[in-house]
Parts: sequence; structure tokens; C-alpha cells
Amino acid sequence: MSSISLSEYAQRRQQLMQRMTPNSIAILPAAPVSTRNNSVEYPYRQHSDFFYLSGFAEPEAVLVLIPKREHGEFIIFCRERNPERELWDGLRAGQDGAVANYQADDAFPINDIDDILPGLIEGRERVYYSIGNNPEFDQHMMEWLNSIRSKARMGAQPPKEFVVLDHFLHDARLYKSPAEIATMQHAADISCRAHIRAMQTAKPGLHEYHLEAELDYEFRKGGARLPAYSSIVASGKNACILHYTENNAALQDGDLVLIDAGCEIDCYASDITRTFPVNGRFSPEQKAIYEIVLKANLEAMNYISPKHCWNDAHDATVRVITAGLLELGLLQGELDELIKSEAYKPFYMHRAGHWLGLDVHDVGDYKINGQWRALEAGMTMTVEPGIYIAADNLDVAEQWRGIGVRIEDDVVVTENGCQVLTNAVPKTIEDIEALMAAAQQAGA
Ligand code: GLY
Ligand code: MN
Ligand code: MN
Repeated sequence: MSSISLSEYAQRRQQLMQRMTPNSIAILPAAPVSTRNNSVEYPYRQHSDFFYLSGFAEPEAVLVLIPKREHGEFIIFCRERNPERELWDGLRAGQDGAVANYQADDAFPINDIDDILPGLIEGRERVYYSIGNNPEFDQHMMEWLNSIRSKARMGAQPPKEFVVLDHFLHDARLYKSPAEIATMQHAADISCRAHIRAMQTAKPGLHEYHLEAELDYEFRKGGARLPAYSSIVASGKNACILHYTENNAALQDGDLVLIDAGCEIDCYASDITRTFPVNGRFSPEQKAIYEIVLKANLEAMNYISPKHCWNDAHDATVRVITAGLLELGLLQGELDELIKSEAYKPFYMHRAGHWLGLDVHDVGDYKINGQWRALEAGMTMTVEPGIYIAADNLDVAEQWRGIGVRIEDDVVVTENGCQVLTNAVPKTIEDIEALMAAAQQAGA
């Protein structure tokens, strides 16, 4: 069971059903199982929408909501109990468990869905269903629809409209409750410990994967089943490859290493980046770049509050980074003009952050009616400015080439500002060097 209470799940379903039109039905399939190779599967991870509405983590399930249905509004189709399969693959809730432990009003075996679901759809005006996300389930939906249509002469009424559910549901997911924020803080705390452990372990001669192993150790020891995304451990110029995940290079004396990694707790993500010197001491050039990125990270926090819009923090990072590159001579010209012409983009080519929640790049609109969205309490996001100087950038002096720095924190908007969930892992040069020096001394 998850750290979110059953009553909170019930509240979420009610909130969604209140926004559904009369005489409608919502249908959400569980995430499919993905095969890795032959008889080996990837670790199963429930679809975030399905999990948000139920906390039910099993595959081969379908969640159905029918507001005001007399015999119950919340229906789960799921696998039947099966002692032999459970001996091999693990316990199943079964239909009794779906009712007793997940508060389903009704539960049916997934193998009976062809016989039961068309009857639940028949006669409804509108079906809420996110078409295109699960091709196999889309196919089933068409078959159920056609089975209703084939009975039209007997008076069966196929639904008139199919509407995607995403807008209502994803807007609700954007506003985190205190229980969700507590879960995200838990995930962030474990990830902070993992980053600290990697800093304490780093030294020339190890490989990137040694640090990844330290991250994984803290994640699992903290109770996280999986990283929220593939960990990036990128030393030297690898840091300039934004989604580098090979993690197999040797750590060189004098290089930085950028680690972007976060675990997932009860399906809620954390997402942290820290950049530190392999040998524990920043060089003057690394320091200069790092200080700009840190200033951008801290400045962005001043633009995260209900008084600001989504893009304000990004704009703040662009200003700090462009001014910093100008001061170092990596850009030449006039500040406002360089910002307007996006001269910073060869060095800072991504956004300053994204929504964070059940998905690491969480759902929810960033613009409303073409305007950047106003921030509101409970919205949760990352702040992750960076500077990346490509190793083959011949427009800059050699000593700058191949330096990549990103500093990423997780932040919740509060009533009058924001709260940082990831402050437990050092990010000033002084604090990082002190932490690494203490670890080197202890190990000496
Ligand atoms: N780790 C993915 C990101 O920072 O967005
Ligand atoms: Mn990240
Ligand atoms: Mn991120």
C-alpha cells in the first residue's frame, strides 16, 4: 500500500467524477508489462494516472469510474487469485482485495472484461478515455464499441462522444496535497543521501559506474524500488551530453562529474543534479562556471511564488547565465541584446525546470490560453540551470572547453514563496569541498 491514505484516493476520484458530464464513464487501463527479452520483463511500474486514482499497483487491470451509478461508481477489473501463479509471480489482490483494500465498489476478473465492460459502456453519452497511449487497449476499446454497435437493432445505444481525460486529471495532479509533498520530501531525502555518498566516494581512478553503484545503494537502502529515471553520471566532457547514461568512463583527476539522479517513492519522483570535482577541488575555470550556475539556481528561487508565472524563473536563469558568460568573455556584446538573440543557447539549451510529481517530467499545462501559467501553492517543480561548453567549441579559449555544470533542486510553491526539498545535499563550492575533504581524510 502507498503512503497516500485511502480517503485521499477516494477524494481524487470524487474530484474527477464531479467534472465528468452526466451519464458518462471513464476507463483507464493499467500500464502494460514490458518485455525486456525472451521471458524477462522490465520491473513493473503502474501508469501514473491509474495509480493516482487508486494506489493499485498490479498489471492487467482496468479502472472504471461511472459517476452516480447505483451499484457503485468505482469498478476495478483485475487478475483473479491463483495459487499457482502467485507461487511463481507474487501475491495478487484479487477481486476481494480490490474491494477490501482499495475501496472498489465492484471488482471483476480481468478475463471477464469482454463480457462486462461493453454493458457498462452501453447507453452512456460520453466515454472518457485517453486514446493513443496504449495501442493494444485502443484495439479492445474498438472491439467493445463495435460489439455495442452490432446490437443497435436490438436497442443498444453506443456512446456518442469519446473525450480524453487528460486535461481534468492532469490539472488535478499538478496541485500536490500535504501527503504527496511529504512523500516527495521522503524521496528527496533519500536522493540527497545518495548524492552525498557519491561525493564522498569519488576519486580519480574510479569509474562513473562506481558512483552509480553508490547512488543505487542509497536508493535501495532507503526503500526506493527504482530510480525515477536513468541515472546520469557524467564526468569531464560527458557532462555536455544532456542525457548521457553510459556511465562507464574513468574519473580523471582535474575533471568535474555531473550526477543527475533521483529515486522514486510510492511512484513519486525526486530529481537532483549536483556537479563536483573528481579530486575534491574545483579549478579556477570550473569555479567560475559553477558560481554562475549556482547564482542562477538561487536567483530562480526568488521567482517561484504565487506572485509569479511559470516562465519567470527560467527568464531569471537566462539573465544570470548570460551576464556571467559575458563577464567571463565567453560571450561578447550587450546583455539585453545577447538575451534577445538567445546568444546563451549554445551554452544553456534547456529549460530551467519542469513539473515534478508521479512522473519526473510531470503532467499539467505550462500555458493557459497562450499565457504562461501563474504559479499556485502546491505546484512542484525542478530548478535546474546549467552551462555546457562543448569540447569542440573553438569559439572559446581552450581552458573552458569540456566543462559542464548543472545544479538541480526540487521545489514546492507555498502561500508566500517556495520550499526547497533538496537542500540536504551541499551545493556551494565551500560546502562541497569541505564534504569531500572530510571524506578523503577519513579514508586516508
Ligand atoms: N533528469 C531529467 C531531468 O532533469 O529533467
Ligand atoms: Mn534531473
Ligand atoms: Mn529535471
